[in-house]
Amino acid sequence: MLSLENVGLMLNVGEQKIRILDDVNVNFEKGKMYAITGPNGSGKSSVARVIMGIFQQTSGQVRYLGEDISDLSVTERARSGFGYAFQHPARFKGLKVKDLIEVALKHGDLSDCKCLRNIGLCPEDYLERTLDNSLSGGEIKRIEIATLLAQNPKVRIFDEPEAGIDLWSFEQLIDVIGTSHDEDKITVIISHQEKILNMVDEIILVVDGGIQLQGSCDEIWPRIRDSATCACKQNCKKEGEIYADCPR
Ligand SMILES: Nc1ncnc2c1ncn2[C@@H]1O[C@H](COP(=O)(O)OP(=O)(O)OP(=O)(O)O)[C@@H](O)[C@H]1O
Ligand SMILES: [Mg+2]
Repeated sequence: MLSLENVGLMLNVGEQKIRILDDVNVNFEKGKMYAITGPNGSGKSSVARVIMGIFQQTSGQVRYLGEDISDLSVTERARSGFGYAFQHPARFKGLKVKDLIEVALKHGDLSDCKCLRNIGLCPEDYLERTLDNSLSGGEIKRIEIATLLAQNPKVRIFDEPEAGIDLWSFEQLIDVIGTSHDEDKITVIISHQEKILNMVDEIILVVDGGIQLQGSCDEIWPRIRDSATCACKQNCKKEGEIYADCPR
């Protein structure tokens, strides 16, 4: 089990310290898939960064398999089986796709490169490409996801994997994340997509730096869906799929 216990996170912004996460308590069990959702800026990626050791929490603990891992570095956590596909993957001039995948496969065999094929990229077309601005947004995102699939860690966090992925490939993406999950893994998907929220065991709703709801999809999804507000941000009443009394 992976858990965050009373986790708080403050970050420096100029002269000021601002609160990003406040008293976050959440458990992730082995063998389960989780979706973290919530408004933009609510703290979803920050939760992922605390789990990965990219951000050091200001208070509380991160525990994994009974141990407090709060002091482990990013590299030590990666060695312990943690992997993260970034929301905005970095580009590296001079590094090729094959270098990244080879490291992720722990110097395994690149010849079949299922991880790229599974995500809709033909290895023949991509292995020699440089990880620079010549790759499109969707391509770099797919390569990031393929790298995490190749790494095959025990704790996997996909941060908005659907972002920039075309409609035709979205089903394939969901399928490959679902089928690569197994009873030894914890899979966490940060997402705004209804289809992803409906494929997981539990949904975690992050609002304003805290966990507002956590529970099964059947329990949480209707509450999220029905709490959506009208685009005009007034309290318009929803009737079926429309906001019937919206003045605009
Ligand atoms: N390095 C940083 N320094 C200062 N503030 C930060 C930093 N990283 C994140 N923040 C702030 O923390 C808050 C939470 O950011 P976070 O990226 O976790 O949000 P999110 O829920 O993932 O949003 P989104 O849906 O847009 O990806 C935001 O207000 C953001 O501006
Ligand atoms: Mg984010």
